[in-house]
Amino acid sequence: MIPDHAVEEVRSRADIVELIGEHVPLKRSGKDFKGRCPFHEERTPSFFVVPSKGFYKCFGCNESGDVFGFLMKRLGLGFQDAVRYVAERCGIQLREVSGGGEDPFRHLFEANAFAREFFSGTLWDPGRGKGARAYLDRRGITRETAERFHLGFAPDEWRGLREAAGAHGIGDAVLLEAGLLIQREEGRDPYDRFRNRIVFPIESVSGRVLAFGGRALGEAGKGVPKYLNSPESPVYQKGEVLYGLSWSKNAIRREEGALVVEGYMDAVSLAAAGIENVVAPLGTSLTEEQARLLGRYCTRVFLLFDSDQAGSRATFRAGDVLLSAGLHPAVVTLPPGEDPDSIVRKGGGGAIREHLGGAVDVLDRKLQILEERDFFSTIEKTRGAVDRLLPTLRAAKDPALRDIYVAKVSERTGVRRETLEAELKKGAVAAATGAQPRSPPRQASPPRPLHLGAERKLLLLLVQYRDFVDRAAERLGPEEFADPASRAVFQALVADPELSRIPDGLDPAAQRRLEELMGDLERVSEASRVFEEAVGRIKEAPMARRAQELREALRRESDPVRQGELLIEIQELDRQRRELKADWRPSLRSRHDPTTSPLTQERE
Ligand code: UTP
Ligand code: MN
Repeated sequence: MIPDHAVEEVRSRADIVELIGEHVPLKRSGKDFKGRCPFHEERTPSFFVVPSKGFYKCFGCNESGDVFGFLMKRLGLGFQDAVRYVAERCGIQLREVSGGGEDPFRHLFEANAFAREFFSGTLWDPGRGKGARAYLDRRGITRETAERFHLGFAPDEWRGLREAAGAHGIGDAVLLEAGLLIQREEGRDPYDRFRNRIVFPIESVSGRVLAFGGRALGEAGKGVPKYLNSPESPVYQKGEVLYGLSWSKNAIRREEGALVVEGYMDAVSLAAAGIENVVAPLGTSLTEEQARLLGRYCTRVFLLFDSDQAGSRATFRAGDVLLSAGLHPAVVTLPPGEDPDSIVRKGGGGAIREHLGGAVDVLDRKLQILEERDFFSTIEKTRGAVDRLLPTLRAAKDPALRDIYVAKVSERTGVRRETLEAELKKGAVAAATGAQPRSPPRQASPPRPLHLGAERKLLLLLVQYRDFVDRAAERLGPEEFADPASRAVFQALVADPELSRIPDGLDPAAQRRLEELMGDLERVSEASRVFEEAVGRIKEAPMARRAQELREALRRESDPVRQGELLIEIQELDRQRRELKADWRPSLRSRHDPTTSPLTQERE
């Protein structure tokens, strides 16, 4: 059996004009092609092939379908054979799911499909779904939109889903594997992960349910996070899925472009306002896989993130990722404090379209920002600007686009094109030899631990505020950095706090890290506070690990004397950690909202 995602890939890579053209002589007609219908007798051509939408249609006999449908009908193939035929023609190796057609994850898809039905049943239940429907209503989400996205409501009950699923013969083990239940301890009854939340099913391109996201009704309170997502599972790797794509892919093809927004709510809200070519990454920054996935449907991408600092950083990171997947990203700058959702709520779809009209190519936007920050006033500063622009030049994989970029940067900075090209080559060698192998596609990527975020943040600060280098060296040794590249960058900075170029001796991973840090447009504010917090978190990391180990040992320990010793040790560690935290914690604006911490810009 051919897995769904492979079918989608074949469909999107197939040249429908060429494949149908082998059976029907076709002539160009504007953007489409036409010929005489092979399925009924006709003199004047009324058979059209529409490559942008990937389908054919005959206006004489009303026959229509996609490339597979055509071959099935024309050659009498079954669906799977039609897919194999096309795959072979476009050189795609199909890895079929073995075992006589059984999908090994079928039980998970079934559990998720059941949950989706359960949640939507609750949402539309006159009594149970009342509050949730009122909430959606307040947010301008009509029933039609909610149904299109298969939105649902997880009732305010501990075991609503679990009991309903159980009655259908779906047991705890499957629900746990799918991430729908949580079990705190062995032997205790598991309970529903999603409770009292609007639920957004996360679907594969072909519409299978992989996971869910849930938003708290109304304001999130103490201990109740606003958003909650399924954990990764055998069928869900969050970096490989784009929310909304199952539904928006046709619009993306039709419009020849996609809008990338931050999350569920923005995507749904735009769709409600009639803007359908929208996708969202799932609580992480855009990944290479997601960029490639999007690249199957379009090349033009509009980035609509928040205009705050975290948003602008996410924008440029996503921009580089998209460029290296061969796409053309443009940045839509929204007014401060606005997001796509708030814009459509105030001005409807038209307001968003207006902003799209003002989209600026990602490199141009970088140049604008550097200009605003007075980066071209002196030779030294211009040198710094070039360093910040190089990663974007390097990311541009499309040769024509890259040429244009190099020309632009050369013109703006006065650096000769040849010099820029030479710089690019240098980096390319470093990138090639030091290339960390990309994580194998099917493996879940572990979440980035907080202290690695702290290491990066500290280095970013040191790059921007060289006065802090000595202070950092007094407080931290290189061995306290867990990440080897960060460690090497730290050593390089300590060795030469004024360092302005990437030292040749640095190992390639560290070179890239330093280049990336120098290219980061985010300016660290509140340097002293960020410094204290980052140093604290780096120091805390090994203690946290040790405490975790001790707790596990305690759980296994049966000897009461030894248990007591372990407890004392744990308490001592906890005390030290509290002390460490006292250095930075009081200044945090809020403990409950992790997004207000300067170190946690990446959300779960
Ligand atoms: P918001 O914080 O604005 O979410 O997140 P919201 O639901 O619109 O809440 P309020 O009413 O403004 O306070 C911005 C975008 O990021 C998504 C949201 O769905 C929204 O599209 N998001 C946020 C996630 O996808 N996951 C998260 O963990 C947080
Ligand atoms: Mn919002």
